[in-house]
Amino acid sequence: MSTLHAYVHVPFCRVRCGYCDFNTYTATELQGFSQSDFVNQFAKELELSKRVLGSARHLESIFFGGGTPTQLPASDLVDVLRLLDDSFGIAKGAEVTTEANPDNVDGFYLEALRRGGFNRVSFGMQSAVSSVLETLERTHTPANVPKAIKAAKEQELQTSVDLIYGAPKESMDDWKRSVDAAIELETDHISAYALIVEEGTKLARQINRGELPEPDEDLQAAKYEWADAQFAAAGLTWYELSNWSRSKETESKHNVAYWLGRDWWGYGPGAHSHLDGERWWNVKHPSAYAGKLAEGLSPEADRETLTELQKFEERVLLESRLATGLDLSIIENKDAVAGLIADDLIDAKAAFQGKLVLTLRGRLLADLVVRRLV
Ligand SMILES: C[S@@+](CC[C@H](N)C(=O)[O-])C[C@H]1O[C@@H](n2cnc3c(N)ncnc32)[C@H](O)[C@@H]1O
Ligand code: SF4
Repeated sequence: MSTLHAYVHVPFCRVRCGYCDFNTYTATELQGFSQSDFVNQFAKELELSKRVLGSARHLESIFFGGGTPTQLPASDLVDVLRLLDDSFGIAKGAEVTTEANPDNVDGFYLEALRRGGFNRVSFGMQSAVSSVLETLERTHTPANVPKAIKAAKEQELQTSVDLIYGAPKESMDDWKRSVDAAIELETDHISAYALIVEEGTKLARQINRGELPEPDEDLQAAKYEWADAQFAAAGLTWYELSNWSRSKETESKHNVAYWLGRDWWGYGPGAHSHLDGERWWNVKHPSAYAGKLAEGLSPEADRETLTELQKFEERVLLESRLATGLDLSIIENKDAVAGLIADDLIDAKAAFQGKLVLTLRGRLLADLVVRRLV
């Protein structure tokens, strides 16, 4: 029986952060769609997925992402989980994660999640510095984060925090404070992402108008190197370019499944799915999504079948970012591999053992490595 993973996209946020272009809507942008209808709509897409998949596959991991899944009552998230379990069965030991903002969960909420079957929470910390959180237009304060982590640990939930480095005006010292604060939380897992200035966001407009400086790539690289060294010293090992874990067991099994090209069904507005080389994605707006389902139609916007070349390129792109590495037997261009070793971008010893594993320098130049291979 092949493995199956589920992603549930909850496209609601109290306010939109200036840098974010995820498929998410504030209450005034919902155009008649009611957040309280989310579970009903989900149940309709679930029926569709059962018809496509049959019931012969258990779920190995489930991830609620957003938006802000915790904008919904905990009972809604638990209802969704129960419906998934009734339909497919959740495998023993499956990882069940929700993303959460540090300022919209408390002990009662987290207890309800734990009782309902969740075992992991990933908090959007972003920074421990007030001025950086303000630039990012986050609603939480630095003090919200340790409180939320403490409450999650009291429920014996696995914990992770997301950090962002390279926000406009963030100094190296600001970043060091954020890294130290994240380490002090003693979470099981940390993700650290370079800030991407997404076109069409408020942040992009502020930068275009000269109100905020552009992120400095050299400073971002220095921040990555600093964080990696501090995380390693604190017992957190990198296992994917932007992800560090306390142990193999606490790596995000759900994200590893994406990176290894496994099958997953993405439920909810704008969610992407992948089954055996076939990819599709749902219409983005919750009202359009509900409209399709009300007509008994699939909410899909479009789909594509990956060509052999696309499959190869995707494998190189995703697996080269993993510490376990990319199987070098799929790379025909041996000269390119030799060049990457000579330039200290990939580990020579691992390469002799048939794996492409990035060096620290290679991790800073991962896009270049991929370009030289595909
Ligand atoms: C889309 S959010 C969802 C979780 C939750 N709403 C939150 O903000 O914490 C998931 C993560 O994406 C990252 N993210 C969103 N936009 C980004 C951007 N433009 N550049 C880098 N990271 C970004 C943030 O680190 C965030 O924690
Ligand atoms: S970063 Fe998170 S909280 Fe902010 S708008 Fe995006 S999804 Fe919502």
